[in-house]
Amino acid sequence: VTIHDQQLHRGKGGELHQFAEDGHEVLTTAQGGPVADDQNTLRVGARGPAVIDDFHFREKIFHFDHERIPERVVHARGYGAHGFFETYESLAAYTRADLFQRPGEKTPAFVRFSTVAGNKGSADLARDVRGFAVKLYTQEGNWDLVGNNIPVFFIQDAIKFPDIIHAAKQEPDRAFPQAQTAHDNFWDFISLTPESMHMVMWIMSDRAIPRSFRFMEGFGVHTFRFVNDKDESTFVKFHWKPKLGLQSVVWNEAVKINGADPDFHRRDLWQSIQSGNFPEWELCVQLFDQEFADNFDFDILDPTKIIPEEILPVRPIGRLVLDRMPDNFFAETEQVAFMTQNVPPGIDFSNDPLLQGRNFSYLDTQLKRLGGPNFTHLPINAPKCPFHNFQQDGHMAMRNPVGRTNYQPNSRNEGPRASPVRGFRHFPSDEEGSKIRLRPESFADHYSQARQFYISQTPPEQRHIAMALTFELSKVEEPVIRERMVSHLLNIDDTLASTVARKLGFQSLPKPADAAMPTRQDLEPSPALSIVER
Ligand code: HEM
Repeated sequence: VTIHDQQLHRGKGGELHQFAEDGHEVLTTAQGGPVADDQNTLRVGARGPAVIDDFHFREKIFHFDHERIPERVVHARGYGAHGFFETYESLAAYTRADLFQRPGEKTPAFVRFSTVAGNKGSADLARDVRGFAVKLYTQEGNWDLVGNNIPVFFIQDAIKFPDIIHAAKQEPDRAFPQAQTAHDNFWDFISLTPESMHMVMWIMSDRAIPRSFRFMEGFGVHTFRFVNDKDESTFVKFHWKPKLGLQSVVWNEAVKINGADPDFHRRDLWQSIQSGNFPEWELCVQLFDQEFADNFDFDILDPTKIIPEEILPVRPIGRLVLDRMPDNFFAETEQVAFMTQNVPPGIDFSNDPLLQGRNFSYLDTQLKRLGGPNFTHLPINAPKCPFHNFQQDGHMAMRNPVGRTNYQPNSRNEGPRASPVRGFRHFPSDEEGSKIRLRPESFADHYSQARQFYISQTPPEQRHIAMALTFELSKVEEPVIRERMVSHLLNIDDTLASTVARKLGFQSLPKPADAAMPTRQDLEPSPALSIVER
């Protein structure tokens, strides 16, 4: 037996395993070619020019040059984990979704938590909304419940999403602030968007600086539908409740933690899961019918409103446990593609105009971010149930149809068939109306729930909201924006408005804001007002 023979080994399939002189597997190129020297480029003489024959160098550098993909346009910074969802009881009366039929049924899950505004490398404890995106690999295809840790949203119509996000992220000329809502563009947009006031109360509250992902709630935000096998529909709102309860840090702590360890939330999730301390959430639902919707004070299609739990208690229907970190951050957490349109039979959409816009946006953005139509072939995105269709080709196609028949109908009796019984049937809601661009009147009350949220807070929590608003608005340079914000606060709570106004150095209070969108005239600062400049 020669030394050469000892360093070769054939696997069961006859494949050749090669070992280097020190016993490690031999380093290869992407083509599988064994490499002799990975640390020195090929040159003419030790001090001479590099030569183009060096295919190993060129392949190594080429691959490195292409490592980055675009970061998510929002929610760029995130951290994910694997786990499972366990169903508590059969919900067959409400939904035909397979995952809710059998008590004790376990469904594999992948969850990605995120901040919204900051770039991929920003700090974890920014004052921001947190994404809470859950992919459940059900037996009837993937269900993505792409939620946040706040139950309402800034805007009522998806067509405004590019504006709110442009305004929230770093300003285009100066490229700062990173991951920070305290700047003119953000507050300018907010102060001109009264529908955002409820959400603003939440993001100025302690909810926006969670102690860790493990202590956050999650919300599906929109009203969805459950649909049972008789095609009867029940409206549903989804809530994730952390077993550990809710905990936040205060701003002072957040600033220090961000400085000392910008990866604080990542590290927390990594360490707790690696040490067997698996975080857990209960999935709770609010179920209601059309009659409840018709009698409720707000429009159930308006994503800036909640249904208070005192009016409609939540019902726990299962639990989510996160028990495994990804083997590779890029392959799983970065390449995971959540899409609100991913729903199994038995779960359907409502006419919430924000949800309807999202159902377009997510597929579109994955196409751009993941480079083509075959991102569903990536293991993290592929369903874990059998799937069959005639989709083929495109960049990086890895699951082309096998055989001759790649179409239907076909006379060979080959290939999969659609099934009106097993397949997804859209709930046949009755719709009528003119084709118009018009916000419904029922979406017009922008302040009542903002007020309800504020007064539901304890006195220390209310103080934190006042301090957050003061701090944020003190960073705003244009006086008119600060004034406009205080005029909205006057519609929410007098004490809150006057505290913030006083701390900002206002000599007098502005008029309360009109609930309607401001006109051009309203945008001019009132002459009576004097603002002490910093
Ligand atoms: C990403 C939640 C509204 C467009 C995300 C993510 C979450 C989320 C959690 C991160 C997903 C991940 O971890 O990969 C929400 C919630 C919304 C909302 C709860 C309102 C209730 C919208 C709207 C649009 C939109 C209205 C556009 C019309 C996007 C886009 C991404 C994203 C383009 C990036 C997706 C990616 O590249 O993977 N959203 N979002 N979102 N969202 Fe939303």
